[in-house]
Amino acid sequence: MAQQSGGQIDTVMQEARLFPPPAEFAAAARIGSLEAYQEMWDEAEADIEGFWGRLATEELHWFKPFTKVLDWKSPFAKWFVGGKTNACYNCVDVHLGTPRQNKAAIIWEGEPGDQRTLTYQQLHGEVSKFANVLLGQGVKAGDVVSIYMPMVPELVVAMLACARIGAVHSVIFGGFSSEAIADRNNDARAKLQITADGGWRRGSILPLKETVDEALKKSPTIEKCIVVRRTGTDVNMTPGRDFWYDELMDAAAAECPAAELDSEHPLYILYTSGSTGKPKGIKHTTAGYSLFTKMTTRWVFDLRDEDVYWCTADCGWVTGHSYLVYGPLANGATVLMYDGAPNWPDEGRFWEMIERHRVSIFYTAPTAIRSFIKWGDHWVDEHDLSSLRLLGTVGEGINPEAWMWYHRKIGRERCPIVDTWWQTETGGIMMTPLPGAIPTKPGSCTKPLPGIVPEIVDGNGKPVAPNHGGMLVISKPWPGMLRGIWGDDERYKEQYWTRVPGKYLCGDNARQDDDGYYWIMGRIDDVLNVAGHRLSTIEIESALVSHPKVAEAAAVGRPHEVKGEAVAVFVVLRGATASEALKEELKKHVRKEIGALAVPDDIRFTQTLPKTRSGKIMRRLLRDIASGKAEVGDTTTLEDFGVLAKLRENEE
Ligand code: PRX
Repeated sequence: MAQQSGGQIDTVMQEARLFPPPAEFAAAARIGSLEAYQEMWDEAEADIEGFWGRLATEELHWFKPFTKVLDWKSPFAKWFVGGKTNACYNCVDVHLGTPRQNKAAIIWEGEPGDQRTLTYQQLHGEVSKFANVLLGQGVKAGDVVSIYMPMVPELVVAMLACARIGAVHSVIFGGFSSEAIADRNNDARAKLQITADGGWRRGSILPLKETVDEALKKSPTIEKCIVVRRTGTDVNMTPGRDFWYDELMDAAAAECPAAELDSEHPLYILYTSGSTGKPKGIKHTTAGYSLFTKMTTRWVFDLRDEDVYWCTADCGWVTGHSYLVYGPLANGATVLMYDGAPNWPDEGRFWEMIERHRVSIFYTAPTAIRSFIKWGDHWVDEHDLSSLRLLGTVGEGINPEAWMWYHRKIGRERCPIVDTWWQTETGGIMMTPLPGAIPTKPGSCTKPLPGIVPEIVDGNGKPVAPNHGGMLVISKPWPGMLRGIWGDDERYKEQYWTRVPGKYLCGDNARQDDDGYYWIMGRIDDVLNVAGHRLSTIEIESALVSHPKVAEAAAVGRPHEVKGEAVAVFVVLRGATASEALKEELKKHVRKEIGALAVPDDIRFTQTLPKTRSGKIMRRLLRDIASGKAEVGDTTTLEDFGVLAKLRENEE
């Protein structure tokens, strides 16, 4: 969609289709016209502190009110200074004694077909007990708890129980390897691990506890490990270290008041890939994050008490944190949660679930949509999707044709689609159409939410004209913003606030069209987006180079029909002979070092990597080769970039 030439970005995308909000939807919506949106955005922009301050007072429970809305010593923000609140209290306790008390908070379905429902009152009971379990295991406010679990209700209970006592959760996606868990545990100095015996995936069992056992050999700061029984798998339990969740719960007291925490008390760490090898522990804190996720959920999904809301993200990613747990529960929503694959027992699973639970809001990733398209329309056609009223996407740009399919096939041309742009770092949605107010254009995340002030700038930090691509920055602080990289203030300053001084550099390129709509044009750093997940090229390269037979490696993305981008790697061997068997060995090695999601789709062996005179790998050339745009002689096994590299060098 975007081409780069000489540092400036050109756009080749032309998309003229415009879909106004359906009249019926707009008539009932919380924000029901473009004018209403614009008024709200203008009001917020004119007085950021007044806007968020008023909402914080109205929308959060305060044990002690804040005295100052924002203390901004760029790039360090403190929101709602002096206040005391609790993220768990705002998600659970606030609904007790209201008509929502006996409403379903979580309707859960497991892959084998088992189902459970937790009302707000029941959720409160489970969370309070588990908070007591954590306290009983010696966890204190500020301690880090590492969570590596399948998508079972106990995962949400664990997150909220941490928040209740002020412990900081670090959820690690269940597809990561033991090495990746250990790295994250060590960086965070995590004290306690929570996991399960196993998890279901496409009918087989993922050995989660076994992976954790490996990780804990290299995680010296972890003292205890709590294990949820999920699959009934036989696992090793180390006496004195490992405990069964259900046994501890049976013995725990029922009451556990929510801790009165400072607004800026850390809520969680979530690791994400950056342009260097080491994953970054993105830090979010209590009050600002709670407010931002609550408000954005309400505005973007136009959430009602009657809705059955389904976000298909895993809690191992930020979408699961913000839009499966904190945002929807703070609004008293009924959340559908699913633990399993979308194509088990068959490709109709999601549509069957929408029909069974009468889902009204469905939020998923473009990569999933591309899979649905590939699987065939008949899986969809067999089901009654008339309960749906709103659709959303997140994680990567959606190609206009996939958008059209989603609109026609799933939304039956009735449901607005919210294409939500945001990041782990932003904590919540930053740009998106508001479903009752902003006409959509397939492939555009349209406009910023109230309180969010984006700009597109060139390499000198100067704004660029409409229809010109540039770096997307956010020029005013917002309550959900990251508060830093865990334990690394310097890296935080350098990565996000230095290149364009005083503004948040999100790492994406974008352009604005003549209507002021934003179009995301991909990353400016060496980060890939594979199936909606961020992967650092350097992380993959480091994993490859740690293999004894690899001398050098370069990882790039190439377009992929379903995953958006696939990982292609170029490998220089250390005297070994290129073979199919070695390719498999290297794939296995990456799986072990990082996890299945980083396993390269293509491995090409080469004698040298093309480099500029200054020694930088010529990624653009490699990307062209990987995507089949450039040919280099015989490409079967060995590639000699010599000639091409020389040719390209003159262009640099
Ligand atoms: O490049 C953008 C892309 O995903 C990145 C953020 O990834 P992560 O922190 O893992 O969070 C994903 C879930 C919020 C962004 O920098 N991205 C995310 N949403 C969109 C998107 N690109 C285009 N359109 C989107 N709607």
